[in-house]
Amino acid sequence: MMERDISSAMITEKIPEAMQNTWTAVDGYINSHLTLSDPILDAALQASSAAGLPEIAVTPSQGKLLHILARSVGARNILEIGTLGAYSTIWLARALPADGRLITLEFDPRHAAIAQTNLDRAGLSEKVELREGPALETLPELAAEGLASFDLIFIDADKENNVGYFAWALRLSRPGSLILIDNVIRDGEVADANSTDPMVQGVRRLNELLAKESRVCATTIQTVGSKGYDGFTLALVLS
Ligand code: SAH
Ligand code: DHB
Ligand code: MG
Repeated sequence: MMERDISSAMITEKIPEAMQNTWTAVDGYINSHLTLSDPILDAALQASSAAGLPEIAVTPSQGKLLHILARSVGARNILEIGTLGAYSTIWLARALPADGRLITLEFDPRHAAIAQTNLDRAGLSEKVELREGPALETLPELAAEGLASFDLIFIDADKENNVGYFAWALRLSRPGSLILIDNVIRDGEVADANSTDPMVQGVRRLNELLAKESRVCATTIQTVGSKGYDGFTLALVLS
């Protein structure tokens, strides 16, 4: 995966600084009025940052959105593709019932090591299984093991492989499952057919597939916040 400082890229390239400052300030305001952090979540972010992991985890309000969606669908089995330091993982796993399980896939051993420490600190080592390796290799293993009925699947790894991940998500889901895909707007570049950014192209290929995929009911929501301008796709599996 390409590691780059998206926040500075955003400010210097497309997003006016005053606008980004407003989004960041409003996220701060929201964070101070809703319960969007605690010592364990803060420690996960701090440990990730201290280890030099890219600062691309979902924001606190986005993490809580994932948590609320998981609770809303009554998720008992969750699959996450792209762990990083397990910040989103913690939000999702906390939505599970006592016997619920989450499997998260990460190919970078450095990220996986920090993630495991963060999960241990969060008391989630039992509920969460972290599988190391390229997701396109670990996903077929899940299928082979018969783990094919995830209630919620969060796709948040290398965007170039979004189409492949979505195909696996469909295979590993059931009618009623919710598939979420992060980073589908990319500063609005998604609407630029001439974009040469491989991540944008990965998202656009997925949208072309979604346009003709009758097995899901899908929408995309644009988001702004401390992490800039991006968005989520939500796809409800119908059949
Ligand atoms: N979900 C996290 C952020 C994930 S960032 C959060 O919001 O907190 C994307 C992660 O996907 C990175 O850790 C990166 O190493 C991982 N990744 C990239 N390519 C991958 C691949 N082919 N298989 C599995 N993980 C991959
Ligand atoms: C990138 C990846 C992410 O998962 C994200 O939320 C933001 C940025 C990236 O690779 O640039
Ligand atoms: Mg992401």
